[in-house]
Amino acid sequence: MNLLVVAGARPNFMKIAPILWAAEKRGIRPTLVHTGQHYDEGMSSAFFRDLHIPEPDYYLACGGGSHAVQTARVMERFEPVVLEQRPDWVIVVGDVNSTLACALVTSKLKHAWGGRIAHVESGLRSHDWRMPEEVNRVLTDRLSDLLLTPSRDAHANLEAEGIPAERVRFVGNVMIDPLLRFASENGDAPEGLPAEYIVLTLHRPATVDDPVQLREVMEGVDRVAESIPVVFPVHPRTRSMMEGAGIRPGPQVRVIEPLGYRAMVATVKNARAVLTDSGGLQEETTALGVPCLTLRENTERPITISEGTNRLVEWPMTADNVVRGALDALARADGAPRRPEGWDGRAGERILSALLES
Ligand code: UD1
Repeated sequence: MNLLVVAGARPNFMKIAPILWAAEKRGIRPTLVHTGQHYDEGMSSAFFRDLHIPEPDYYLACGGGSHAVQTARVMERFEPVVLEQRPDWVIVVGDVNSTLACALVTSKLKHAWGGRIAHVESGLRSHDWRMPEEVNRVLTDRLSDLLLTPSRDAHANLEAEGIPAERVRFVGNVMIDPLLRFASENGDAPEGLPAEYIVLTLHRPATVDDPVQLREVMEGVDRVAESIPVVFPVHPRTRSMMEGAGIRPGPQVRVIEPLGYRAMVATVKNARAVLTDSGGLQEETTALGVPCLTLRENTERPITISEGTNRLVEWPMTADNVVRGALDALARADGAPRRPEGWDGRAGERILSALLES
């Protein structure tokens, strides 16, 4: 069976790794395409090394640009690849621009040889159409032949959109596979972390592209950092927005380069709490039992609130509300990992089985 696996941006890499590990166990070597949406050493290569992902068979070098430019570039460069490979399955993961671009290209060509599209992490919905990821999620699901869900709540979302249940399969959360594999290692944490600290990550356009909102969040973070240091691995987009807006975090906020996968897991695991606008970290903190405050108005991962350690910041996201939410997170620190159904480290194997059986 010819499997073609697509990855483009940082949050894709830890989702494709377990699929590749499971394939290798069964003697299958998928074709790997890296669109290059993320291209910095710290945003991409470090993850390939940490997660034992082989060199991609195709590297499409589609980094940077507006949404339209980026999506269009991936589409143009992916088309000849899929035509050359004629895969039985094109496997896309998550909700980034590369996910939708490759699904869209495949959807118009696949009938020529009977190929199909599988979407891993299907069915998550924030219902917030201002988020580019929501557009990517909904459209990718609409184009997919096999929709592989990380949690049961996703099924109701897909049913509400009229997607036939035969196409949908629960496989659990593939992000948790590498988390459980590497979380027992401590050696990877960056040197010189304080004994107790909070981790902060920010990158979403809604948070960082608006200087007024970004300033408000960072003011709240500075106040939190007066009582407990904040470690802030900064996304390139956020760094340039902070520089552009003249925002300089306070002295207790330790701004560092983006961390590789294993360094990030080790850092988060030992944190007192995490403040983030990321999707994946909401899930990882739940599985690690670290309290999380999500710096967004909504989440496509409500199970991390109902069954996990996550809370949404009170809205509007003022400095006061960030401080209040962070103090609440620190007070909730009970250290108990939560593992919703299928967050068990075996999702990669179930994905492979679903592809081979469908
Ligand atoms: C993308 C995803 C988002 C995901 C995030 C994780 C979409 C719509 N968004 O957002 O869902 O949570 O990745 O990080 O696909 N840049 C660099 N070096 C890099 C990567 C990016 O400098 O290695 C710069 C880009 O040139 C661009 C900015 O950062 O100016 C944003 O990158 P982009 O890929 O457009 O989106 P992200 O904000 O990273």
